[in-house]
Amino acid sequence: MANTPSGRDARGFEDQMAGPIHAQINGKSRAFASEPETSLLFALREGLGLTGTKYGCGEGQCGACTILLNGVPRRSCQLSVSDAAGKSIVTIEGFEHNGQLHPVQQAFLDQGAFQCAYCTSGMIVSSVALLQKNPNPSTTEIVQALQGNICRCGTHPRIVAAVEQAARAMHRSTPQGTGPKGSGQ
Ligand code: FES
Ligand code: FES
Repeated sequence: MANTPSGRDARGFEDQMAGPIHAQINGKSRAFASEPETSLLFALREGLGLTGTKYGCGEGQCGACTILLNGVPRRSCQLSVSDAAGKSIVTIEGFEHNGQLHPVQQAFLDQGAFQCAYCTSGMIVSSVALLQKNPNPSTTEIVQALQGNICRCGTHPRIVAAVEQAARAMHRSTPQGTGPKGSGQ
């Protein structure tokens, strides 16, 4: 290898010199242990132990891996660690506050809105994002917002009921305490 690295070697050299990539994850500054080109889903699960975010299809089709990136629901299997540099990430682990579940989490429990629960964290993240944008969605709007999240167990009617319950609960509560950590909500 030449003394002056070039091409891919040069990029690796620069990355090494730049040090680990940081992001605000669930309200705390964290350093990724993974390389910049590593799948963000893999880095969260395997590198940082945030295993609530699930690997379903790995192709951006099922929504099981949904996280909030700067408040926007994104498929973490379609992002790399470098995409998250300096940004705010909220995973399902970031929704509980001081031992209290987020109203959407509570509503999923109350409505029994899961069977195997493999889709549940992605469903909850997408539902929170919907309610932040639209606090009073119609049934049609809920179905549309969640159509990219697949539930193989067929619990969609209960999921819709849970989002409706959460919307009512969030209307009753003060705005404080209903947003995920680090979301600015
Ligand atoms: S695992 Fe990411 S969309 Fe299916
Ligand atoms: S509860 Fe099993 S995939 Fe949704």
